[in-house]
Amino acid sequence: MKEYWNKRFMSEGLIWGEQPSETAYHAKELFLMHHIRTVLVPGAGYGRNTKILSDIFEVDAIELSSEAVILARQWDDRSCFIEKSIFDLSVTNKQYDAVYCYDLLHLFTNIDREKLILKCIEQLGQEGIYYFTCFSDEDSAFGKGMEVEKNTFEYKNGKLAHFFSEDDLKNHFKETNIIETGSLQENFEYSNGAIRTYKLRYIYGIKRLA
Ligand SMILES: C[S@@+](CC[C@H](N)C(=O)[O-])C[C@H]1O[C@@H](n2cnc3c(N)ncnc32)[C@H](O)[C@@H]1O
Repeated sequence: MKEYWNKRFMSEGLIWGEQPSETAYHAKELFLMHHIRTVLVPGAGYGRNTKILSDIFEVDAIELSSEAVILARQWDDRSCFIEKSIFDLSVTNKQYDAVYCYDLLHLFTNIDREKLILKCIEQLGQEGIYYFTCFSDEDSAFGKGMEVEKNTFEYKNGKLAHFFSEDDLKNHFKETNIIETGSLQENFEYSNGAIRTYKLRYIYGIKRLA
């Protein structure tokens, strides 16, 4: 996984352009409403989405790819980029008020998706807010490649993607207090000129109160 992402960031640079996702603006609004101060961003890439969060919040960004981290530290010098796998993040004394996680969750098989969610929720304080996005089962790539688990496909060589229905997404977060789910479409123009529209889902909620 690390090698795949390093190669991509090295050859394509700011792969998804300079504009943040509309979900980053949405999350920012919600975080402001909830008086959030600290935000954890797992799988932050080169900081496309952290940059509009770090102008207000204190952001720690966890990123696997060393190449992405080099780009990110130039792109967003206010966030603190930590080069490591989210799975190696130890539960430290540092707890966050919110987690924003864009398009990382769908990259894993079920056992790792569960681990990722748990890891993120563990890092939140009792009333912490989470906001995740992921591929939708309405995306055009759904069903392409070998199905390795239900609705999880090796859709590119060595790269998995899980495609979520709304119920499936809610089920992943069933231990939490889900506030809202929704769908959106995002368009990207890649460095080779290819244009791709992605159908995504988002979910946000509150870590269940004890
Ligand atoms: C689809 S990209 C999304 C990047 C970023 N969220 C954005 O929108 O620009 C997934 C990112 O997650 C990173 N990643 C993959 N596995 C990871 C892991 N186990 N821990 C932390 N980051 C990871 C990749 O290197 C890549 O930057």
